Amino acid sequence: MNVIQIKDKQFAVSIPEARILQEVDRVAAEINRDLAGKNPLFLSVLNGSFMFTADLMKRIEIPCEISFVKLASYQGTASTGRVKEVIGLNEDLAGRTVVIVEDIVDTGLTMRQLLDQLAAHRPQEVRIATLLLKPDKLQVDLHIDYVAMQIPNDFIVGYGLDYDGLGRNYKDIYTVVSD
Ligand code: IMP
Repeated sequence: MNVIQIKDKQFAVSIPEARILQEVDRVAAEINRDLAGKNPLFLSVLNGSFMFTADLMKRIEIPCEISFVKLASYQGTASTGRVKEVIGLNEDLAGRTVVIVEDIVDTGLTMRQLLDQLAAHRPQEVRIATLLLKPDKLQVDLHIDYVAMQIPNDFIVGYGLDYDGLGRNYKDIYTVVSD
């Protein structure tokens, strides 16, 4: 299936599964090398990162733990705007090496809020592993340790990412071709 229709939009394959897995292999090898002996805690941010997390974790060969969190959006004060609160975090992060596993960093605002909230739990170190980065959209200063792929600004779906809840199930990544 090279072209799919989701609601009002058409999408075409832009990154096939084989290419994705090649980059996941590379990121996993970097993490295996960098974090050996640190018993990292991987924090997978649902829903979008479920497929990346599964493929990444199958390739991690060092002792580690994995947990899943969600970000719940709510309207903050006038000055804070929309706030995303971490829910489902049951682990003690104090003194731990934490690796956030995300699907995509777009403006980076979500990641910034997540980092700020995790800092309150006093981890020793927090690293970021993201499947995708849209570098031209980044609005905040972020150090991203592991990036599987950089992509242009276009909207994408598949491999965990959705359009209005749909499209997460596809094994390839698709880019929007028509509105
Ligand atoms: P940020 O706060 O702007 O970095 O947005 C991050 C979140 O926006 C991601 O976790 C995704 O849920 C969503 N997102 C950003 N770009 C896309 C896209 O192209 N397709 C699907 N979801 C996206």
